[in-house]
Amino acid sequence: MQTKLLNLKNQALALINQAEDLQELKRLRLGYFGRQGQINQVLKAIPKLDPEQKKKIGRLANEVKTALEQSLTAKTKQLSVSPATAWFDPTAPGESLPLGHLHPLSQAIEEIQRIFEHIGFTRIRYPEIDWDWYVFEALNMPVDHPARDEWETIFIDTPQHPQLGQMVLTTHTSNGQVREMERVKTPPIRMLNLGKCYRRQQDATHTIMFHQFEGLVIDKGISIPHLKGTLDYFGKQFFGKGIKSRIRPFHFQFTEPSFEVDFTCTACSGKGCRFCKSGWVEVGGAGMVHPDVLKAGQIDPQKYSGFAFGWGVERILRLKPGLDIDDIRLLYSTNLEFLNQF
Ligand code: FA5
Repeated sequence: MQTKLLNLKNQALALINQAEDLQELKRLRLGYFGRQGQINQVLKAIPKLDPEQKKKIGRLANEVKTALEQSLTAKTKQLSVSPATAWFDPTAPGESLPLGHLHPLSQAIEEIQRIFEHIGFTRIRYPEIDWDWYVFEALNMPVDHPARDEWETIFIDTPQHPQLGQMVLTTHTSNGQVREMERVKTPPIRMLNLGKCYRRQQDATHTIMFHQFEGLVIDKGISIPHLKGTLDYFGKQFFGKGIKSRIRPFHFQFTEPSFEVDFTCTACSGKGCRFCKSGWVEVGGAGMVHPDVLKAGQIDPQKYSGFAFGWGVERILRLKPGLDIDDIRLLYSTNLEFLNQF
């Protein structure tokens, strides 16, 4: 009986060790531990043995049983691990995960901020929901003035403030002009107000929510050449060396004189193409701060003068050489094929 048990153990351990899959292991387990299994047959025979043998064989049978169970468990674990994960070399270089990047608009905003910081502008953010006073009235556009019609304003349905009027989603970053004059009180001022604006507009070149950046410079003796120099500097930094800027007469209620600002088209280098027609592309408005606006900000127009400009971030990003932005609404989509080109 003892030899039989020891043979059974050796044979079983060898078979378990050679097993190639879990199916085979399952069969072996049944063959040894099932109701009619070989271990059970031995255990059933033990009560018939004499007391001396009973003790000895009983102990041995238990040892064999434990050894086989341990071996079956270890082999099951080994065969359950897939070949891909079975081998692990801790010295092998890791797999690097694909890196994402900032959204193209965030990249453009960082670049614009850096360009203006180099010439002494400070980036400020003023409210995106603001009082009518800062958005329109202090900028020479009293209630009922027809100039307001152009802005496609989204008003907020709140009670009116007795002095500041109704609340509006800011249609432009020009609301920062008088706010900055109130904050600084005594010029010089060199402000860059970059934030979100809202208008009831939507097509390939307009979105309901878009970004503008507003420059405001106020000091003694500021004149149009300072504005022109700043535009040229920005154009060269943002678009590249060959870029020129031009200003055309226009009308804004809050600047006098007022201009539209164009840059040479980057698609045709100013020769004229299907995209620009004339070789120039408009990016936004600018002008010399109107004396009434300086007065609204408690600044004496006899002592100080200034210029301001306001452009769309989405629009100037569209002009960057090498980018393909047919429709600025794509900037607000989740289209990865488009976004990954940046
Ligand atoms: C203004 O908003 C003036 N506040 C600019 C200004 C500032 C003039 C300071 C003088 C002094 P305008 O409405 O033209 O101007 O808008 C300026 C630029 O904002 C546009 O040229 C365009 O680049 C961008 N923009 C306007 N509306 C949208 C829109 N719906 N979607 C995307 N960009 C827009």
